[in-house]
Amino acid sequence: MDRRTLLKSSGLFMGALGLSQLVSKTASAASASKVLAPHALITPSAKTPLLLNFNENSLGMSPKAHAAIISELPAAFRYPDDARAALIETLAKRDALSDKQVTLGNGSSEIIQMAIHAYCGKGSQLVCPDPTFNYAELYAEPMGTTITKIKLKPDTLAIDLKAMREATEKFAGNSVVYLCNPNNPTATITPAADINAWINSAPERVFFIVDEAYHEYVTDPRYASAASLVKAGKKNLIVARTFSKIYALAGLRIGYGLAAPETIARLDTWASIDNTNLPAAIAANASLQDAGFIRRSLDTTAESRQIVTRALDELKLAYLPSHANFIFHRVNSSSAAYRDSMKKLHIMVGRPFDHTDGWNRLTLGTPAEMQAFVKALKTLRQQGLA
Ligand SMILES: Cc1ncc(COP(=O)(O)O)c(C=O)c1O
Repeated sequence: MDRRTLLKSSGLFMGALGLSQLVSKTASAASASKVLAPHALITPSAKTPLLLNFNENSLGMSPKAHAAIISELPAAFRYPDDARAALIETLAKRDALSDKQVTLGNGSSEIIQMAIHAYCGKGSQLVCPDPTFNYAELYAEPMGTTITKIKLKPDTLAIDLKAMREATEKFAGNSVVYLCNPNNPTATITPAADINAWINSAPERVFFIVDEAYHEYVTDPRYASAASLVKAGKKNLIVARTFSKIYALAGLRIGYGLAAPETIARLDTWASIDNTNLPAAIAANASLQDAGFIRRSLDTTAESRQIVTRALDELKLAYLPSHANFIFHRVNSSSAAYRDSMKKLHIMVGRPFDHTDGWNRLTLGTPAEMQAFVKALKTLRQQGLA
């Protein structure tokens, strides 16, 4: 079940919080230091549940982004053209691309939506791993696109590129391939060499959406961004990235796409006109200048990962190698029963994913949050519930 369906079906449009709680929480979080204390003691409660279910960065945004929003907010009576252009310029320079090779979206969700609307429809197919982040599928399905889901490899839960490729070869029409690297929910990577070899040799009728929402977290040398293919002039792909994850701007809704100028132009015809939120663009641009914040986020995520893997080892619960700000691990019951048990302790974990019952996706929050999680996990183990 995806985030949208989950929120609709549970009536939790504000995540685990009611609107009034969210507003008062936001007000009390006005001092940035409150949000940014990674080791502050956490006691989950009904009023302040621990949210480890949507892969957000619990540190909250970069203080530089926060200050930039406050200082630029009075300019929000103007349309965001300048802020949009400035952000595109920063992103292009960083990746040594031209401005025409970058576009912005209302989150990377809109980048995925633009690509699906531009390349899918009746007579075409979407090929995606299963399970994976399913927004491509959600946008493609109502357009009459054939959806071909290729199960992860049963032993490693790695993406089965060979089977995905065969699915495009068997299909007579155009294919759009969705590749999430690192994959959500498993946090595993697909080696760049394999992805690049396929994209470089694919016929024109195959288009790739490479979703790199968790790109900034990866340190494994087998991983590399598909942006190098864009730089090399390939036209059959879009790289989707987001400011919702390591940059901690999920609520501001901003993401971007990298592709050949012709591909960007085609995608842009499907974007919502004036889709850029001014504070979001300002905050994103400021975040890109804050290398210290990224370092701190990576360090706290590494510390949190260690806290969790140590506990999982101790409790003999298997887990996959985590290359993102979440980890996919075994539980000693059905996934749904485990989520319910955690929820009773005011900790929201994971969400349902196909073919992986007995596993849970856990967001790596701050070290203090993970200590609270580990305490709850051990309590459940004592009760025979985890
Ligand atoms: C793999 C992946 N892609 C895209 C998104 C959507 O992010 P955004 O907030 O940028 O729309 C998410 C959000 O969880 C994600 O996990």
